[in-house]
Amino acid sequence: MQEAGVNLVSLGVFSWAFLEPRPGQFEFSWLDHVMDLLHEHGVSVNLATATASPPPWLAHYHPETLPLTAEGVRLWPGGRQHYCPSSPVYRDHAVRLVRNLAERYSDHPALAMWHVNNEYGCHVSQCYCDVSAEAFRGWLRERYGDVDALNEAWGTAFWSQRYSDFAEINPPRRAPTFPNPTQALDFKRFSSDALLECFELERAILRELTPGVPLTTNFMGFFKPVDYWKWARREDIVSHDHYSDPDDPEAHVGAAMSYDLMRSLGGGQPWLLMEQSPGHVNWRERNLVKPPNQMRLWSYQAVARGADGVMFFQWRASKAGAEKFHAGMIPHGGTETRVWREVADLGRELAGLGELDGTRSSADVAILFDWNSWWALETSSKPSVDVRQLEQLLSYYHVLFQANVPVDFVSADGDLSPYRVVLAPNLYLASKETARRVADHVASGAKFVTSFFSAIVDENDHVYLGGYPGPWRDLLGIVVEEFVPFPEGHEGTIRAALGKVWNCSIWSEVVALRGAEAMATFEGGICKGLAAVTRNEVGAGAAYYLATRPAQSFMADLLGGVCRDGGVEGFSAPAGVEVARRSGGEHDFTFYLNHRDVAVEVERVPGGDDLLGARTTSNKMRLGPFGVAVIRSESA
Ligand code: GLA
Repeated sequence: MQEAGVNLVSLGVFSWAFLEPRPGQFEFSWLDHVMDLLHEHGVSVNLATATASPPPWLAHYHPETLPLTAEGVRLWPGGRQHYCPSSPVYRDHAVRLVRNLAERYSDHPALAMWHVNNEYGCHVSQCYCDVSAEAFRGWLRERYGDVDALNEAWGTAFWSQRYSDFAEINPPRRAPTFPNPTQALDFKRFSSDALLECFELERAILRELTPGVPLTTNFMGFFKPVDYWKWARREDIVSHDHYSDPDDPEAHVGAAMSYDLMRSLGGGQPWLLMEQSPGHVNWRERNLVKPPNQMRLWSYQAVARGADGVMFFQWRASKAGAEKFHAGMIPHGGTETRVWREVADLGRELAGLGELDGTRSSADVAILFDWNSWWALETSSKPSVDVRQLEQLLSYYHVLFQANVPVDFVSADGDLSPYRVVLAPNLYLASKETARRVADHVASGAKFVTSFFSAIVDENDHVYLGGYPGPWRDLLGIVVEEFVPFPEGHEGTIRAALGKVWNCSIWSEVVALRGAEAMATFEGGICKGLAAVTRNEVGAGAAYYLATRPAQSFMADLLGGVCRDGGVEGFSAPAGVEVARRSGGEHDFTFYLNHRDVAVEVERVPGGDDLLGARTTSNKMRLGPFGVAVIRSESA
């Protein structure tokens, strides 16, 4: 570990069965030994609370702690994470373990941070058992007060679903046909909150016994089941597990998007890349290795987008168990291996980058992103299954990434004031309050872009009546009369005012102009000649609307123009080179990341040195295949 500059280790993540081999009997001597050993050698510990996978005895004595799927299938021990998050029995046992651990190690000099549970919801994010049903009813009572309010919110007048008592309500278990959509939405909210309660229970004990020790739980990027906005404000540092796929030529775009989300979740504070693989994983169908230098490049990508630490799963590749073919920092072959050499080189190099501590990134562009809207958008019985939240999100993000325009994510109730450009890709569910705050921000001078099927429903998934999109008709200067989704795989075309033609997919609609101008119109079908893309001037700002999913080249033109209008510029770089900046004190640190496997020549910011050692006398520098440079310059 010293050879590789390792200074923080996550420990004990799946060790419950070793820490408590029999109910109430704790066995810490092995952990004492490892903690002491690490401390003696200058390595700190991110100590796991180990509650993510109960020992087999818990299910043996308390089978009711096992989770149940919507179909009524029980999930048994033998894998991991086999617990019902609402189970009081599971929770009591978890809390007892955490209290014992925290009492034992509160004063241990190696303890630097708590790692609460692990990847909440990774395998079991929703449980439909009777215990969960009772907890769901409690959650609903709290939200609605009485059953009439629930009936109103759920629209139970439809299909004879009216409840006369909370006792009649269940989770949306497998039903003959589509479940009530608001019931489904509330169950997603409840399930995220049920996991959050587990986190809170552990957190309370750790705060009580070790008030000065920071705590985190590892997130998984755009992980649908858990509303990370709610979680992030309850932890001291955001940490993230990310496994880019070397087989995906666009993997770094999705990675950048999740890193920007992590930075945004923490309000711009540094975050931690808690897990990545030193090479391959074991859980894809084909587990490709990272070619030489790609692990280093991808590690720096996290640092460039705000991470102050880079960690790995896992230290040593195991010889047994379900993850024995997952890469480790020390492979099965030991230290005479390429993977080890690259890991050790990276560790040595990162140790020299202390100057980056305390530096931050800033962005003029915000993307509105809301888990509630994502959940509601992707419940069943919509006009088209092709409208997927992440696909739409990526169609915007991809353009900004390629233009090296810094982006933050903002929650539906977040502060928009720092941003000159605000984007809301398919924000299906928008409260009147969110819609109004966006409109006010545009009136005060911001540029705004949104797409079809946005601001269609309120928090209860009820449609805003009187023409779509209810609360944004004035802002956008349009009214949508009818959705006209495309058949599967169909491509239409749109024509811009100057005659240029682009493909479009997924969706069209009948848009009437109410003050906006048409920037492009549909060329065929029911919507022929009607507006496909519009622009509306509002006070000092402007609001753009996409009534379809245009080709990426159109998205690039449109968002490029909007950014220019808003006075937002990206960093220039050749294709395949990502540029991102962190700033602090007197310096800017500009990262150049070559995602191609061939060398490129880059024109870099003037002045300053490459922190990674490349000497450049002119403003041109060469980045090798998967090469990285971090240029320090006087702050702009
Ligand atoms: C997750 C888990 C780890 C391990 C890795 C494998 O991130 O937290 O325990 O299973 O996946 O990639």
